[in-house]
Amino acid sequence: MGPVDDQDVRTLEKVAVEVAREAAELALAVRDRVVGPGSVADLPTKSSATDVVTEGDRECETRIRERLDALRPGDVVLGEEGGADADPEPGQVRWVVDPIDGTVNYAHGLPWFAVSIGAEVDGRPLAGAVVEPVSGRVWSAAVGHGASLDGRVLRASALGRTPVAVVATGLGYDPERRRRQAALLARLAPEIGDVRRAGCASLDLCSVAAGWVDGFYEHGLNHWDWAAGALIAQEAGAVVRRPDAADPEELGPDALLAAGPGVAAGLADLLRAHGAGEI
Ligand code: IPD
Repeated sequence: MGPVDDQDVRTLEKVAVEVAREAAELALAVRDRVVGPGSVADLPTKSSATDVVTEGDRECETRIRERLDALRPGDVVLGEEGGADADPEPGQVRWVVDPIDGTVNYAHGLPWFAVSIGAEVDGRPLAGAVVEPVSGRVWSAAVGHGASLDGRVLRASALGRTPVAVVATGLGYDPERRRRQAALLARLAPEIGDVRRAGCASLDLCSVAAGWVDGFYEHGLNHWDWAAGALIAQEAGAVVRRPDAADPEELGPDALLAAGPGVAAGLADLLRAHGAGEI
């Protein structure tokens, strides 16, 4: 792909939506087959005893790779379950795929999970889609074209007071890191409006885009957790600090922060003051 123009990014957005929608249908069909009361206890795990993987994750990623291969044969894919099929060449589109973000919710029968597909070139996010199988909601964005939910334009929170901000966060799968994350949250909680931990980072970012929450932060997310959602939040006017950013704010080298412009600096200040750099 040469220089990327407006038509290209809209095309990438459409592909992301089409493929994510199809995978979302599959995720529901597989869930009906594999998820039942207590079934989570029998699931295989990855990085730690709580990091489960389901047949839904695997089957959806396989389907997404097949569909991307058919629709965009010259591109490469990085996916949560299958890793990277190849390193991208300069200028080549790379799809960053979380087949089911919120796997723990999915495996427990909770409805808050999503298929997340982002497209980037040279590490620059260009388009993305996050589709919720249960509600059917479709969140998407193309760089420079704004973000939408089912076709409605999204705007991040206009709140200007951090002490009343509702802030979402998440916890990783490593028990020691989770202990530090929980300790940071305990220090932060008394100084903001309220806290949410919904269990799906891509949808946390979409919630920032919609202004449903005023901000979101988490340390240690994987690229596929945020590739699409961070662009959706950014295109909705949120301030987004990616986990691969330089760290002048001293939030920790792998911190993601997305927040409405009126609270982003205040939230970053609080996180830094409470030791986010040590997480
Ligand atoms: C997880 C979810 C969760 C976040 C974790 C992620 P997964 O992704 O997004 O909300 O707190 O850090 O790993 O494992 O369900 O794809």
